[in-house]
Amino acid sequence: MVDGLLPELAEVVGPANVLTDPDVVAGYSVDWTGRFRGSTPAVVRPGSTQEVAAVLRICNRAGVVVVPQGGNTGLVGGGVPLAGEVVLSLARLAHLDDVDSVAAQVTAGAGVSIGRLQAAATQAGLAYGVDLASRDTATVGGTIATNAAGLRALRYGDTRAQLVGVEAVLAHGEVVSHLGGIVRDNTGYHLPSLLCGSEGTLAVVTRARLRLVPRYDERVVALLAFGSVDAALAAATSVRSRLSSLDAAELFLQTGLDLVAEVTGLPAPFPGRHVAYLLVEAADRVDPTDALSEAIGALAGVADVAVAAIASARQRLWAYRERHTEAINSIGTPHKLDVALPAAGISAFVAEAPGLIHSLAPEARTWIFGHAADGNLHVNVTGLAPDDERVDEVVLRLAASHGGSISAEHGIGTAKRRWLWLNRSDAEISAFRTIKTALDPGGILNPNVLLPPRP
Ligand code: MLT
Ligand code: ZN
Repeated sequence: MVDGLLPELAEVVGPANVLTDPDVVAGYSVDWTGRFRGSTPAVVRPGSTQEVAAVLRICNRAGVVVVPQGGNTGLVGGGVPLAGEVVLSLARLAHLDDVDSVAAQVTAGAGVSIGRLQAAATQAGLAYGVDLASRDTATVGGTIATNAAGLRALRYGDTRAQLVGVEAVLAHGEVVSHLGGIVRDNTGYHLPSLLCGSEGTLAVVTRARLRLVPRYDERVVALLAFGSVDAALAAATSVRSRLSSLDAAELFLQTGLDLVAEVTGLPAPFPGRHVAYLLVEAADRVDPTDALSEAIGALAGVADVAVAAIASARQRLWAYRERHTEAINSIGTPHKLDVALPAAGISAFVAEAPGLIHSLAPEARTWIFGHAADGNLHVNVTGLAPDDERVDEVVLRLAASHGGSISAEHGIGTAKRRWLWLNRSDAEISAFRTIKTALDPGGILNPNVLLPPRP
């Protein structure tokens, strides 16, 4: 059926932007981790909102299902064609307007990378509040679709908190555009909030109006070592409540540090070995070193500290945390279980999860790290077959049993849709389905993610 549409699609986007060569489309059909592999008859690359609209009109009329894709850095199998769908790549929507310094906002195309957006904001004396290790590949559209959060969310919130307006194309090809940048705009349903985190199921985001935040050039990073996870978690809470300039507070464990050192060749940060590490960064207009030292001075159980103020030294400390993802991927295909725990449950979760995983799959290795101050833990498990979901099941159930979320920042995708009920009631899931059906009655927009399969 799709083959018959290809000439029509090529007429809209140009023949060079309908990709069908199996070697070329293969790269669009597997996710970054390698866990989620599918196939597609075609990758369509529109170059404007109007082209996206025309493509969706054609697909909707023919009942052809599409999977929107940004930088393909998603971690829950939400942006790859696992059921043979057409891939709608938004990479060519890469126009970035000039920064509006007066409003502290910018309008960016869906295909603009987060790194490019950050660089433009920085040049204008501002900053973009969302940052993540995949910044040079992840895109504005993809981070909106997944409501990505990342490393600075404790200070600036997730992607939803940056969204002032969106332009998007509905399933039948109609464009909704609200990019005026009015912050106090209380005129009904807030479509940016609805589309953010909707994983391409309700509309295709083509442009966004994004809020920018102050740029703080004075930065200091400290890596703190602890004899227990509890001490590191308590330190994250304490630093967050004392230090108004806190930009990030990231947790990792000795096992993860060993792996990062082994894979990357980085030297160990301290002469001794410890159980847990907390990386904190403070950023301000004036040097935050004294404020950070004071906050660290109030902590109990700090076994060692390394402090870095100049950019290259800060980056060296960050590498121990940021390179976890790449190091883990280098030893096998991970199952990525991105959970959030309430303060009362986080310590018990960290204590219980590895034992539960080991009892189910003794051959598996567990890696825990994450955004400690937000209660967001990344439980990565290697040594399992991609489709072996036993460990996913127990970890997600454990998080829910402690009152936590089964997805803190990566989204639901295909990886977690079976377990959405752990966090969402029947009434909520039914409301989700009602919204989906109203906006996409033909079910052509990424229908195999987020919502659980019907029984
Ligand atoms: C990160 O924070 O590094 C990623 O969101 C987590 C991951 O790779 O599992
Ligand atoms: Zn993360």
